[in-house]
Formats: sequence, C-alpha cells, structure tokens
Amino acid sequence: MDIILKAAVRAPDHGRLAPWRLTVIEGAAREKLGQAYVNLKRRLSPDQPSFDQGKELMKAFRAPTIIAVGVSIQEDHKVPAVEQIVAAGAAVQNMFLAAHALGLGAMWKTGDLAYDDNMKSLLGLKASDAIVALLFVGTPPKLPPAPVAELKGCVSWL
Ligand SMILES: Cc1cc2nc3c(=O)[nH]c(=O)nc-3n(C[C@H](O)[C@H](O)[C@H](O)COP(=O)(O)O)c2cc1C
Repeated sequence: MDIILKAAVRAPDHGRLAPWRLTVIEGAAREKLGQAYVNLKRRLSPDQPSFDQGKELMKAFRAPTIIAVGVSIQEDHKVPAVEQIVAAGAAVQNMFLAAHALGLGAMWKTGDLAYDDNMKSLLGLKASDAIVALLFVGTPPKLPPAPVAELKGCVSWL
C-alpha cells in the first residue's frame, strides 16, 4: 500500500497543489462504504422499497481494499479546476500501474456514488469537490487478456 500511495502522490500536478484526497477503505471499514451504496440506492429508487440491500452492501466487498480518490478543488485558482481534476486522475493511473507492477489487479469505478454528496461528506469532501475514482484493489483469480490498443478513429495527424 505504501508503494501504491507513493505512486499516487508522485503524479504530475500543476502548481504542486496535491489536489487528491486519498482514503483507504479496507477490512471492516468496507461496511461504511457498503452502507453508502445502500443509502444511495434507497434515495435513488424510492419506488423500490424492497430492493436487494445485500447486493448493494456487497458492492463494497468486491475487493479487499478500495482507495477512494477525491479532489479538493480550489476554485478561482490560477490552476484551473480541470487541471486539478486530471492531476487526481493521473494519481489514479499511477496507482493502477503500481498495483499491476506488484502483481495485483485493480478496477477503476465511479457510478452514482461518485456524485453523491453524502459519499463526499463521508470522505471529508465538500459538495463542490469531486470523487474521480473508487479504485478496487486485490489479487485477481486470473488476469483477463490485455485489451488490444486500437489507434483507429481516436488519433489524427495535423
Ligand atoms: C473516470 C473513470 C470511471 C470509470 N468508472 C467505471 C465504472 O463505474 N464501472 C466500470 O465497470 N468501469 C469503469 N471505468 C473503466 C474501468 O474501470 C477500467 O477501464 C478498468 O479498470 C481497466 O480495465 P481495462 O484494462 O480492461 O481497461 C472507469 C474508468 C474511468 C477512467
């Protein structure tokens, strides 16, 4: 975890603002994340009061460790908000690469929970801040084949 977190904070970071806010959620603390999934589902689906709570709760238990990546956005700073956000995205990618280099698997997830003010509050963030990733980290039962990089359509030359 030390290697993975150090990789995060070494991300390119305009103005050295360290805009990322990393929260490691593991072991029993995943219950709090699971509860956040349950509460959000309850709020988003008031017409479905008998939804499967266990299913929502188990979303937090898909990996032994989840690293939530928030961005404490400084508004009206000479470094625009978008650059602060992409720096946090780069921190996520660095963690991804570090995890893979260590033989671990990682999955970058967002979903509705990333845009939920209660979840932001759980992470000590303001409503105007952002959550850019819930990075699920663990040992995969087997690694899927790497997707083939396709340049078609997304690259052009001037
Ligand atoms: C900002 C961002 C949010 C993402 N959110 C989700 C998500 O909520 N659910 C999901 O299945 N994949 C999501 N992904 C994509 C995958 O997590 C990511 O491609 C995967 O972890 C790496 O697998 P790959 O090597 O097959 O691309 C997201 C990716 C990014 C960049």
